Amino acid sequence: MRILGIESSCDDTAAAVVEDGRRLVASERLSSALLQRRFGGVVPEVAAREHTMAILPVVEAALESAGMDLQELDAIAVTRGPGLLGALLVGVTFAKALGSSLGIPVVGVHHLEAHLYANALEGPVQFPALALIVSGGHTSLLYWRAHGELEVIGSTRDDAAGEALDKGARLLGLPYPGGPEVERLAAEAPDAPIFRLPVARVAGSELDFSFSGLKTATEELARRHPGERAAIAKALQTAVVEALVQNLARAYARYPVKHIYCAGGVTANRVLAHAVQAFAASVGAEAHIPQPSLCTDNAAMVAAAGYFRHLSGSRLQSTAGPMTPWSLTDLGTFAGVIQENGGDNRC
Ligand code: KG4
Ligand code: ZN
Repeated sequence: MRILGIESSCDDTAAAVVEDGRRLVASERLSSALLQRRFGGVVPEVAAREHTMAILPVVEAALESAGMDLQELDAIAVTRGPGLLGALLVGVTFAKALGSSLGIPVVGVHHLEAHLYANALEGPVQFPALALIVSGGHTSLLYWRAHGELEVIGSTRDDAAGEALDKGARLLGLPYPGGPEVERLAAEAPDAPIFRLPVARVAGSELDFSFSGLKTATEELARRHPGERAAIAKALQTAVVEALVQNLARAYARYPVKHIYCAGGVTANRVLAHAVQAFAASVGAEAHIPQPSLCTDNAAMVAAAGYFRHLSGSRLQSTAGPMTPWSLTDLGTFAGVIQENGGDNRC
């Protein structure tokens, strides 16, 4: 089954073709990040306007690289939420119109579930698992029991990890999006750490995160040591990575599973990837981290998640619009998929 995936929840307009939820045929993306740089972040109205201009060419480019006609598509999967309302509206409206003109089903996909399914493009997903989703808008730890059975066991009380990196980067005079810039600058710092930034613990909730204090602490360091930008970037990155891996270790103590899946833009960070791999190796678990282009927003992950949601019978009604906010625990289960796979609970 060939699914066209469409993603427009933030500043990337993306389209991809994926076969049977596993084989990536083509993936294209046009980002408005460069344009957003002058505002220091994503301006929702600018993002929505850019999506309206980009969506048709990006879908055409994906079909062209797949060597396919529209008529060869079996279904469309589109990010329905959460995200920026105007941005989501562009993708959802486009998908519904295209689906109706081609007479094929449309599936609405949860953006964070889509991030998780980037892992399905790298190999079979094996349950039960722990999942760490770290993006610009979300930081969540999940117990992933089976397709569609996600339990949020930890989340951020304030800023997301990506948001902390983006804000910290801005204080260091780095452009948006800040995460990759912090990684680049931190690599220039000496090996021995010069500064340490605090890793916050959330009282009474050991799997939750708090990143808002990092901004003030980074601001203070940057003011006192303007000549040490690389060392400050490194301290910021270290604090974020430590917070994520510490809570992952606590989650593992409660759920000692064989597999740990990472997802979301921040997991494109090599230092984080190594820390998660090292933790997994230390406890005999297997860490799965998609290649960087599948960690950040893309439409291949949407098509992959859409395939499994489609098998479970999920369809986007013609009257349905974006869902924002949309809780990950409100998605419904995937009984149909599990049967489809012979009951082995893999994809
Ligand atoms: O998943 P994503 O592309 O979009 C959202 O759903 O939010 O994540 C974007 C976030 C941004 O905060 C960006 O700075 C961060 O991911 N990011 C990184 C790296 N690449 C992207 N953070 C750290 N290191 C990276 N290499
Ligand atoms: Zn995302």
